[in-house]
Amino acid sequence: MTKLETYITENESRFLEDLKGWLRIPSISTLPEHTGDIRRAAEYAADQLKHIGFEHVEVISTQRHPLVYGDWLKASGKPTVLIYGHYDVQPVDPVDLWDSPPFEPTIRGDNIYCRGACDDKGQTMLVFKALESLMTVNGALPLNVRVLIEGEEEAGGESIEHYVSTYADRLQCDSVFICDTGMPSKDFPALVYGLRGITYTEVEVRGAKHDLHSGVYGGVAPNPLHALALIIAGLKDAEGHIHIPGLYDKVREPSAEEKAFWRDDSLHTSEILLKEMGVSQLSGEAEYPLLERMWARPTLEVHGIIGGFVGEGAKTVIPAVGKAKISLRLPPDLKSHEAFALFERRVKELAPPGVEVIVHYLHGGEGVLIKRDSPAVRAAMAALKETFGRDPIFIREGGSIPIAALFNEVLGVPLVMMGFALPDNSIHAPNEKYSLTQFFKGIRAVASFLQKLA
Ligand code: BES
Ligand code: MN
Ligand code: MN
Repeated sequence: MTKLETYITENESRFLEDLKGWLRIPSISTLPEHTGDIRRAAEYAADQLKHIGFEHVEVISTQRHPLVYGDWLKASGKPTVLIYGHYDVQPVDPVDLWDSPPFEPTIRGDNIYCRGACDDKGQTMLVFKALESLMTVNGALPLNVRVLIEGEEEAGGESIEHYVSTYADRLQCDSVFICDTGMPSKDFPALVYGLRGITYTEVEVRGAKHDLHSGVYGGVAPNPLHALALIIAGLKDAEGHIHIPGLYDKVREPSAEEKAFWRDDSLHTSEILLKEMGVSQLSGEAEYPLLERMWARPTLEVHGIIGGFVGEGAKTVIPAVGKAKISLRLPPDLKSHEAFALFERRVKELAPPGVEVIVHYLHGGEGVLIKRDSPAVRAAMAALKETFGRDPIFIREGGSIPIAALFNEVLGVPLVMMGFALPDNSIHAPNEKYSLTQFFKGIRAVASFLQKLA
């Protein structure tokens, strides 16, 4: 056994304890009442970096949630890698569907359950532990490392965007490594070369100046909730086609190779999805392969509708206002603000008479497609093969990591997106979990990757 392997094996349980400590901090970035928790989670990350031996460790205040930076630049003549992760998490509702409290890390079988167990504290912590292991065993890292962790990824990530655009010179590096993605199954390691972008909106519909008796005013009063229903129905039909003029114009045809891989579907996506979701049939654009629909097609989803009477029992009221949270996922060529403009115009066009419609842009980010033939990607391929015993496959993901596109564009260096999440990790949902096997293999794969990158 190598010294590195011995160190990792002997320290596995402490690594897990360090993860648990971080997970107990409810760092929900979108809810203002968690601002203090967010800062504590940032400080926890900073302490981890200091403990490893990083220098210039700083919790950087921003307009919103702090960034955590640290570097170790003593490997003269070696390349520099910038490592990204996020310590913020999504809200936990509906809480009653959790089998253990959302912020009490609980181990059942091979999994640790907690909000953030996977996305992205688990995946960020495994990178810290790979760094710690290399540093402790060798007294140095094999290459120069900068770490930049954000606390706002799940809420739009504006602060890091501002930081990266303003201080690109402080982030000088030869490659960027992001550990915030997944693999199709535990036996198929994967590298992600594409992500979708996003436009997240809130559509506000206003009717009368206050709620109205539905008997007295029914028949003449505009109803904002019904207006919302008409708008939503007009935006996307039952076959999954989005009816927003211009939206599909910028969707680039995938390469023949991609199309063949998606159509072929060696991963048996359909069966897996039906089982994972517990539905009898999938929905969406039947004329496109499933993988294309999930990775490369635009989508439109309604996340929530607010308004009117939702308590127990009955109340005969015509609400004065209704709101819906609606987002679009965007293939890389379709930019977030362009899509918003098209969306806004269409929503207003669909509004029935008598209501006022305001479309708010809550946040957005661009998708990305990266080069697959960089030395950094080759190092990651070799590391995955070593740890998982199989060549990785190249996949896109349908989710978004807004900063990935900006790193690609502003820093102009190759990107590696290597993560260890599994499809059943329930990220963003109740009972989020992370496989302990994946966590420990991830540490080994990342340590190996950093050595090969050097
Ligand atoms: N890590 C995810 C993105 C992801 C999920 C990539 C699955 C690959 C596979 C990230 O934390 C995330 O959830 N991003 C948000 C971004 C949004 C709030 C701007 C998303 O995709 O909804
Ligand atoms: Mn994430
Ligand atoms: Mn997420």
